[in-house]
Amino acid sequence: MRLILLGAPGAGKGTQAQFICERFNIPQISTGDMLRAAVKEGSELGVKVKEIMTSGGLVSDDIIIALVKERISQPDCQNGFLFDGFPRTIPQADAMKEAGVKLDHVLEIAVEDEEIVKRLEGRRVHPGSGRVYHVEYNPPREAGKDDVTGEPVIQRDDDRESIVRNRLAVYHEQTAPLVDYYQAWAAKDPDVAPAYHRVEGVGSVDEITGQVIEALEG
Ligand code: AP5
Ligand code: ZN
Repeated sequence: MRLILLGAPGAGKGTQAQFICERFNIPQISTGDMLRAAVKEGSELGVKVKEIMTSGGLVSDDIIIALVKERISQPDCQNGFLFDGFPRTIPQADAMKEAGVKLDHVLEIAVEDEEIVKRLEGRRVHPGSGRVYHVEYNPPREAGKDDVTGEPVIQRDDDRESIVRNRLAVYHEQTAPLVDYYQAWAAKDPDVAPAYHRVEGVGSVDEITGQVIEALEG
């Protein structure tokens, strides 16, 4: 299965990706996680993207498209993959079309902005794996520590409220048009285009996982 998880920052893409990837046995391709790993390593790419990520802006399409093309050519992607946080602009979506990357599903997780601000303030992540928690809604079993490795969980640099507001503005301007893009394509060319599904992202994590699985398998 090849699918795109589409949704605003904090909509729960990373949270749901964990379940979907396990169920369908496919790798999660999170461009955000890949870029954060590059920043942490201090690689050439990391140095280039650090500032823009901290401010909540988007990294250039050329960099992202090259990164994703290289990633999906790897052997573990040959039976499918999940895109989390990609594509995020129309040129990124067009690049996949032009490269002939066949996609089965686009799944939109819809959440209102104010809910997102609350979620991101309380988010904690395990930097090694990208596992996601929330201090209140989805706490790790032991406060401040990852459930699997017991290592500390941390707050992302871009989860401060002013940065979150900027990320939301960027989302509405540059990424939200992909909702129409994929819906229109699915309506026009259903044999070629990925099927479009929309799930309300408000409710417990388990409830939303149930709806997601139903949309993908139903
Ligand atoms: P990226 O890492 O992709 O961040 P994002 O899209 O802003 O999304 P988030 O990771 O913030 O949210 P999420 O939807 O995964 O939510 P999560 O599951 O964590 O990108 C970061 C940066 O990298 C970008 O700003 C940009 O600079 C750059 N970048 C990345 N990709 C790019 C691209 N393609 N092009 C250009 N630039 C790119 O959940 C959030 C919180 O809510 C968690 O605490 C979670 O526990 C909690 N939660 C989840 N579900 C629920 C629920 N049902 N109820 C209550 N709480 C919940
Ligand atoms: Zn994420």
